[in-house]
Amino acid sequence: MSQRQDVTSHPGSSSDSYTYKNGATLALVYGRRRQGKTLLLELMTESTGGFLATGLEQSSAMNLASIGSAYAAHAGLGAPVSFGSWEHAVDALLALGEREAPTPVVLDEFPCLAATAPQLPSIIQRALSPRGRARRRSRARFVLCGSAFSMMRNLLSGTAALRGRAPREVVLHPFGPSTWNASTSVTDHGRVGAGSRAG
Ligand SMILES: Nc1ncnc2c1ncn2[C@@H]1O[C@H](COP(=O)(O)OP(=O)(O)O)[C@@H](O)[C@H]1O
Ligand SMILES: [Mg+2]
Repeated sequence: MSQRQDVTSHPGSSSDSYTYKNGATLALVYGRRRQGKTLLLELMTESTGGFLATGLEQSSAMNLASIGSAYAAHAGLGAPVSFGSWEHAVDALLALGEREAPTPVVLDEFPCLAATAPQLPSIIQRALSPRGRARRRSRARFVLCGSAFSMMRNLLSGTAALRGRAPREVVLHPFGPSTWNASTSVTDHGRVGAGSRAG
C-alpha cells in the first residue's frame, strides 16, 4: 500500500518514516507546475550525492541518450554512456544505490519519459521485484516526479504496473495563507523555508 502525503510546505525530515535500511525503494512526487518540486529534488540530490535526470518532450531514443549523458556526468566518465534499452538504463540507475548510504535517484518530468516509452513503469516494476538485485543490493531511493496529476496518480492505481510498489507518494500543494506564518522564512538565497508549525 502506498502512503500518500499531502505537503503544503516542503516536507521536513524529522518525523519521516521513509527510512528503509535495505533494498531499493520507490516514491512518487507530484503537484502542479511551479510548486518547487524540481528545486526540492535538485537540492536533495546535490546534498546527498544523488542522481537526477529530466525527461523532455522528445523521442524515447533521445531521452535515453540524455539519461546516458547525465549518468556519465554523474559517474565522472569522459564520454556519454549509450544505454541499449530502458531496461539497461533502469538497472544502471538502481545500481547507483549499491553503496553504503541511501542514494536518491530522481527521474524528473517522468510523464515526458513515459509518453514515448510506455513500457517504463513495468520495467521499473520488474527491476524492483522482491527477489531482484535492486531489492537485495541497492539502497537507491528511486523518485519519479511529474506535474501531470492524473498520469502520476494512475501510475499506482488499479491494475497499473507500479501499484503497491511505491510506499511513499508526496503531493506538493501551493502555499496557502495558513502556511505563511511566523515560522516561515526567506533565506538569503530567496528560497522560502517553512518551520515545523507550518501546514
Ligand atoms: N522554496 C522556494 N522558495 C522560493 N522559490 C522557490 C522555492 N522552490 C522553488 N522556487 C522557485 O519557483 C520556481 C518553480 O520551481 P520548480 O522547482 O521549477 O517548480 P516545479 O518543478 O514544481 O515546476 C523556480 O523559479 C524556483 O527557483
Ligand atoms: Mg519541475
